[in-house]
Amino acid sequence: MTYRLSLLLGLMVLLVAACGSFAEPPPNAATLEAEALLQDDDAPDAVAVIPTNTPLPPTETPLPPTDTPPPPTEPPTEEPIEAEEEPADDAPALTAEEENIIFFIQEFSNPSNGQQLFNRTFEVEMAGDVIGEWACVTCHVVDNDEAGVGPGVYSLALRAGDRVPGQPAELYIYESIILPNAYIVEGYSANVMPIGYADVFTEQELYDISAYLMTLTGDE
Ligand code: HEC
Repeated sequence: MTYRLSLLLGLMVLLVAACGSFAEPPPNAATLEAEALLQDDDAPDAVAVIPTNTPLPPTETPLPPTDTPPPPTEPPTEEPIEAEEEPADDAPALTAEEENIIFFIQEFSNPSNGQQLFNRTFEVEMAGDVIGEWACVTCHVVDNDEAGVGPGVYSLALRAGDRVPGQPAELYIYESIILPNAYIVEGYSANVMPIGYADVFTEQELYDISAYLMTLTGDE
């Protein structure tokens, strides 16, 4: 037993000695010095890079606060629009006749009669001396605002007052029926809607149709 152990130990000593002798010789004193010099050159650079990197973070943190200010600049852009509405309100004053028309549409009209007239077919003069047979509803759908031949009137009452500066919704609707070319809705053509409705309907019927359209606020 002891003999085998001493043999193993002897072998190990030999192996260690052999490995040591192979590992040591290759790196000479000169090559080691050269390596040390190379490492010294690299070291100062690495140290210099670290300080230049650390100052940068503080310059980046001030930037986020400059990004947050923009939002407040958006609300102010809505204010000029409100300012534009002011001259529109006091620009064209209503005539006594126009005020009467609005008053009659509001107080002395029959919206359900207007609804029937809106859905009935009439002979009416078109642009270019042509006589056509039309119901309002043929060109103006009532159950949505999408474009047919004319604009859908589902929520007409909500936008009618914004069409012509200084013209209340009732007056705009009334004039749209008897003078369709006085104001052309964006995206549509002039001379498509009949121009002869003032000869088809009585004054009272025009009030009734206007009052009916004033009930179309998009929630029915
Ligand atoms: C042959 C198709 C046609 C018929 C019929 C017609 N319209 Fe029109 N209407 C149009 C067109 C096209 C426009 C958009 C162009 C313009 O402003 O004149 C319009 C515009 C309007 C507008 C303005 C809508 C808006 O969004 O500002 C009103 C109100 C209106 N018509 C009411 C009527 C009434 C009421 C009748 C029936 C008595 C009628 N129309 C019959 C084609 C028609």
